[in-house]
Amino acid sequence: MFGKSRFPLAVDIGSYAVKLVQFEHRKKKLALKRLGMASLAPGAVDEGLIRDPEEVMRAFEELVAAEKAKEREVVVALSGSAAVVRPVRIPSDAALPVAEAIEAEAAQVLPFPVAEARLSHSRMGRVEVEGKRMEEFLLVAVRRKPLAELVELFRHLEYEPKIVDVALLALESAVELAGVDDPGESIGLVDVGASQTLVHVLRAGRTLLTRVIPHGGAAVTAALAKSLRVSAADAEAMKLGAKPVPSPRAAAEAVREEAERLGLELGRTFQLLGEMSAGERVTRLVLCGGGVRLEGLPAFLATSLDIPAEILQPFHNVQVAAEVFDPHYVETLGPVAAVAAGLAYRAMEAGE
Ligand SMILES: Nc1ncnc2c1ncn2[C@@H]1O[C@H](COP(=O)(O)OP(=O)(O)OP(=O)(O)O)[C@@H](O)[C@H]1O
Ligand SMILES: [Mg+2]
Repeated sequence: MFGKSRFPLAVDIGSYAVKLVQFEHRKKKLALKRLGMASLAPGAVDEGLIRDPEEVMRAFEELVAAEKAKEREVVVALSGSAAVVRPVRIPSDAALPVAEAIEAEAAQVLPFPVAEARLSHSRMGRVEVEGKRMEEFLLVAVRRKPLAELVELFRHLEYEPKIVDVALLALESAVELAGVDDPGESIGLVDVGASQTLVHVLRAGRTLLTRVIPHGGAAVTAALAKSLRVSAADAEAMKLGAKPVPSPRAAAEAVREEAERLGLELGRTFQLLGEMSAGERVTRLVLCGGGVRLEGLPAFLATSLDIPAEILQPFHNVQVAAEVFDPHYVETLGPVAAVAAGLAYRAMEAGE
């Protein structure tokens, strides 16, 4: 099990950019070896689905070339509508065998036919619901078609996908890696990407709820383009502060509307949690993804949801050699590469 395969290249294919993370051991401690990102043309990936494999391959090759990475083993993830993670409950005295009971439950909750998915489950524990004893499992359903396409894409480039994971689960691992302390609090882990926002509510390492909101930083860019009557590329540059904004007031208004929409969706999601498990409430927001780099967004979400927010720094407890990495670069890109970091961490644990 030892050897370099313990540290495969972890690759997160987002709709805005492909991120890459690799760890290594330095003096027996976990250390960051590579952290990189390559932008994608808009539309190449959307809500976790690859629309333009050529463009994704180009970006990935650009990234490994820039990183001079020689490893051929990768860990990748499915996200968005390609992978569903959900806690499910089965009565403790169910007549059906567990796998069958979970499949029956999956048929109810999945947004696609069970036959199109690969199901797996892990036991989380026992709960009591209205006086009935239930077994709780974490159901993971991965759609076969995007899974096969993802594997094919890497094989085409002569890389071997050692693990195909799920972005929502990788996020949880990024929190674990970061050592975010968890004294029994319910953490609302929120990854604001470009085309989607992943939400994973956890308490003491247990998944309470997950949701994918089909809304992220790209909507902010689109709103800016519309309000300022500029191209999407110009709006993006203005959002990133690389170009002056012609009418700051209109821009602020457009951005605010999108931030409010996201806040509203998050609020609804967290409310759902209270309805599902009485008294359960998110008491801490842990934010990541490129979308949270939008100026003022973390503070806005914290205020509108009335929950303290912090930015996830996945490499907080990882050795980062000063001669290799600029600390500012790691601090800026770390939260954006949370999924990739979690993937790399899980792959390493799986290899142990
Ligand atoms: N400095 C910044 N200010 C504002 N927005 C930013 C900044 N940097 C990145 N973004 C935005 O973050 C978004 C990209 O985030 P991220 O890289 O996490 O998305 P992704 O993982 O590629 O997409 P998805 O997960 O939705 O498929 C884009 O909308 C981008 O404009
Ligand atoms: Mg993403």
